[in-house]
Amino acid sequence: MKFQAPRGTQDIFSPAVLAWQSLEATARRVMGRYGYAEIRTPIFESTELFTRGIGEATDIVQKEMYTFSDRKGRSLTLRPEGTAPAVRAYIEHNLGARRMPCRAWYHGPIFRYERPQAGRYRQHHQVGAELLGSPAPEADFEVIDLFVRLLLELGLADVTVRLNSVGDENSRPAFRLVLEEALRPRLSELCEDCRRRFDLNILRIFDCKVPNDRAIVASLPVMIDHLDPASKSHHDRLRSLLDGAGIRYEEDPRLVRGLDYYTRTVFEVHHPKLGAQSAVGGGGRYDNLVSECGGPPTPAVGFSSGIERLLMALEAEGCAQGAVVPPDVMVVGTDRLATAVLAATLRRHHRVDVDLMERSFGSQMKQADRSSARFALILGEDEMAGDFVTLRDMTAGTESRIPRDRLEAELATRLTEPAPNAAPKEQ
Ligand code: HAM
Repeated sequence: MKFQAPRGTQDIFSPAVLAWQSLEATARRVMGRYGYAEIRTPIFESTELFTRGIGEATDIVQKEMYTFSDRKGRSLTLRPEGTAPAVRAYIEHNLGARRMPCRAWYHGPIFRYERPQAGRYRQHHQVGAELLGSPAPEADFEVIDLFVRLLLELGLADVTVRLNSVGDENSRPAFRLVLEEALRPRLSELCEDCRRRFDLNILRIFDCKVPNDRAIVASLPVMIDHLDPASKSHHDRLRSLLDGAGIRYEEDPRLVRGLDYYTRTVFEVHHPKLGAQSAVGGGGRYDNLVSECGGPPTPAVGFSSGIERLLMALEAEGCAQGAVVPPDVMVVGTDRLATAVLAATLRRHHRVDVDLMERSFGSQMKQADRSSARFALILGEDEMAGDFVTLRDMTAGTESRIPRDRLEAELATRLTEPAPNAAPKEQ
């Protein structure tokens, strides 16, 4: 029997994993500069957290969740996004009591049962940030600026920020009526999902992907023209902040996003070379989610970004994805016990390789060359008898004898010297 990774998932291994590590290191650095602390939440949560948080009428809750019962019959779901879990942890541990606002970032796997295609997986990974506690448009600005800064430091300058406001409970009831009136005469032309959305949550119709419905949606009135005064001034202020910081954006009055928790600000960032799945990330304000999940009223805003898509965009931009770091030293010799013990000792401080395939002396030397090790440390019969080692500089081709008791000091000195220029070899 041949096993394969489940459809829509992928294995990540060297050298591709280097790009992941480098991306995660950049994210950690940038998030730290903005004062965001990492939070790690479980991979699964109680199903109700997501049905309530994301919204019953969304595609995620309707069609995409990996939901199962545990042995005690509790309904659990592999997390289909990271915001509701962060909010749950915020409430459970009263994180708001420590310092306000609460700034948290995360990265990790996300699960959605979607039809796999380029840039769309059933297990993908996100890096995201949430800012809880501030109602100010400056908080929305901070989050968008943080996202754009992260993209810039990753090497992605060519992105488009799309911005919209979906209003809040003060603007939506009136707008719903306007929408209902505009849509009612065309209800029978809409897809089955949208006819359901009409009753359940009419705003979700803007998220429909069916081509015929999209044409109808294009002719509908939009929320941005029906904002209440407070939402409008919030939006205007955010635009002034983005303009002031020189962050370019496009207004997209039909942007609603696939999750129901948003209030006022929503945004997405797109990369031109990603094809159909061009969103590298998105987010917005969610002022009611904390209270809907049982916490105190807490305004909040955040974003998250798909790591696979970031990496695809970086590749499309031709950005270097990181190179395999060669070992400092390859221990070469025929006495397997002595080479294994010496390698173990040196590994306390250095990157060391040693043969475990019972190769001959000659083929161990070839291996040292192939791995681009900086030095081969030869422990042959003469060396064993004389209590010394031969250190061969693999680039310069020079050799020197080093007494065993001086080996560590000598290596420490030599490895701090810059290596002679040599192109690393493929591993
Ligand atoms: P989202 O737009 O559903 O937002 O997902 C964020 C990003 O994750 C997308 O823009 C995309 O880059 C990536 N993504 C989503 N689904 C897939 C998939 N199936 N395969 C590959 N990549 C995918 C959220 O999840 C919100 N929690 C964002 C947020 C944070 N809002 C406020 N705070």
